[in-house]
Amino acid sequence: MSEFKKLLEPGYIKNLKIKNRVSMAPMEKQWGDRVGNVTQFYIDYMVERAKNDVAMITMESTFIDPVGRGNIYQLGLWDDSNIPSHKRLTDALHEFGTIAVTELQHAGRNAATYKTGFQPIAPSPIPCEISGGYIPREMSLDDIADITRKYSEAARRAREAGYDMITLHGAHGYILNSFLSPFTNKRTDGYGGSLENRYRFGTEVYQAIRAQVGEECPVGYRITADEFVEGGLTLEDTRAFIKHLEGLGLDYVDVSSGIYESAPMIINTMDFPLGGLLPYAAGMKEVLDIPVIATGRINDMRFAEQALERNEADYVHMVRAFHADPEILTKSRKGEFDDICMCNACNKCIDLMFGDQRVRCALNPSAGREREMALKPAEKKKSVMVVGGGLAGMEAARIAALRGHDVSLYEKEDELGGAIRWSSKGQYREEWGQAARYRIHSVNKAGVAVHLGQEVTLADIKAAKPDVTVLATGTKPFVPPYIPGVDNPVVSDYAKVLLGETKIGVNAVVVGGQNIGLATAEFLTEHGCKCTIVEDGDAIGADLGGIKQMVVLPRIADDANIEVRLNSNIERIGDDWVEVQSKGQSETLKGIDMVVFAWSREIVRQLADEVAADGTLADYCLIGDAVWPREPIDAIYEGAMTGRQI
Ligand SMILES: Cc1cc2nc3c(=O)[nH]c(=O)nc-3n(C[C@H](O)[C@H](O)[C@H](O)COP(=O)(O)O)c2cc1C
Ligand code: SF4
Repeated sequence: MSEFKKLLEPGYIKNLKIKNRVSMAPMEKQWGDRVGNVTQFYIDYMVERAKNDVAMITMESTFIDPVGRGNIYQLGLWDDSNIPSHKRLTDALHEFGTIAVTELQHAGRNAATYKTGFQPIAPSPIPCEISGGYIPREMSLDDIADITRKYSEAARRAREAGYDMITLHGAHGYILNSFLSPFTNKRTDGYGGSLENRYRFGTEVYQAIRAQVGEECPVGYRITADEFVEGGLTLEDTRAFIKHLEGLGLDYVDVSSGIYESAPMIINTMDFPLGGLLPYAAGMKEVLDIPVIATGRINDMRFAEQALERNEADYVHMVRAFHADPEILTKSRKGEFDDICMCNACNKCIDLMFGDQRVRCALNPSAGREREMALKPAEKKKSVMVVGGGLAGMEAARIAALRGHDVSLYEKEDELGGAIRWSSKGQYREEWGQAARYRIHSVNKAGVAVHLGQEVTLADIKAAKPDVTVLATGTKPFVPPYIPGVDNPVVSDYAKVLLGETKIGVNAVVVGGQNIGLATAEFLTEHGCKCTIVEDGDAIGADLGGIKQMVVLPRIADDANIEVRLNSNIERIGDDWVEVQSKGQSETLKGIDMVVFAWSREIVRQLADEVAADGTLADYCLIGDAVWPREPIDAIYEGAMTGRQI
């Protein structure tokens, strides 16, 4: 109990004993079935976390009505036929003493017709561009009564399905939030205008649920403490509302922030500090007597403990942290912090969800595949030679070794990490470094024999005679050889710049305005260099992911030292000039002392080609970016699968 005195202290919400203060926040995963039932792999995922002592788990936004469904494979409690599968889930969690919480939701103006088949409904006809810009139908008084009844029916189903507590999803711009907010509620009847009127819908829904579930069942509210939009709700407004609900018997509050228009404040990227929303939880605590749950980029139990010590909250909600490592609490209790695959807030999970795909984790390929990816010892021990120590190679080596194989990993650089070595450099990107440190640590811990600074040839492989060879040679920056002047000393590439191998000048041209190009430009301006980004497409940052775009693009626009030229190409490069053409017009940029290619990547595949041409290696495969340059999630997944298949 020593290090985590506060975190491990039992608590009570109403009469319900909560075994410690660690809770999993809701995360929609698109893992339900077409009508909102829980799937077996959903249960497997939750059991893996419950086993590791999480006290409470809130599943995810659970739709109460098909018109307000947020996503196609979201969980639902809109129909009695949903009850049995939810009951299987809660039964499974109860085996571990975990409190099962449902979060009842109607997406309101954030619902999209292409997913639901219906026009969205909302207090006022104000579309949400981020959800597709569908103009909602203004709700009639009958609609309001109907939705209130549907919340109460869903609460009954939740109780029949064995949920211990019910959270009303009053955050993130969904229907309850949108009635409370002057930003989205422009009604002139008894549900809009004055504070009292804007409280009305949320109050009626709360009261209907309370009447349905009785006094025994804890009922809580997830609130957006601040909407972070002009004319939107602030902490003063929202805590007054929660205080009002507390007066009516509300049992706890879960403090989030943001709406879709300010989405980075819902799910912070790595550009934000840890625990940035704690002041909002603390602000709620100042005026409330009921338990307060804090959320938002809490990815480390030590940090969580400190927040509780400072009395900023009564419970901590962590969700991406448990997505990336179900064992984070167990490992933290044992002091095994280096063994934790820590969420780096890369937001790949939410990007997938917004892209209507199943939620995965960039760093933990087993999330949502717990059963199929459970590690099984190798039937026959083999010698395995892995060439390339990037993410794919390290993961293949680690998993193969954990299964009992005799694994050697060769890396031509003096350090493991591959592309992550440079992509983790620069402000706002350091957490990729944490991802690398974890994998390097786990490769060593798994007993892999690591050989650094060794470039492997076909002859080396033949001499070593491994049973299996895994080629994971990755990529390198592509510098187009056909551009006149490309051999000029002012020319470099993003990897060399980010690794500090290129002297930074005062006036740079960065070729490429996507993720890595923008990171390079920001790195250069941090070092006092001015940058012109030359991008051949008509937008920068298209590959950043929706939420990251909302953070990075305004930052680039506000940076007086960055100029962006769209629909432009480099024509020629001189000693201190660059000729840029845009839509048929050429212009010479003068006084340039750096030209940095951050445009695309080239596969390092000479060894793979030689192995293929030779044709004598009995068992080999090519994985990761060496197959095709993609993202860390793909490289780690391929490594994970390869390690399991040997
Ligand atoms: C993929 C994904 C899905 C989410 N789905 C929900 C949801 O269904 N309901 C909700 O209230 N919040 C949802 N959130 C927000 C989280 O509950 C949480 O507030 C946010 O991720 C910040 O906490 P964290 O830093 O611990 O991840 C989601 C977040 C992510 C990353
Ligand atoms: S995908 Fe990225 S942000 Fe999401 S849980 Fe995994 S590491 Fe964290």
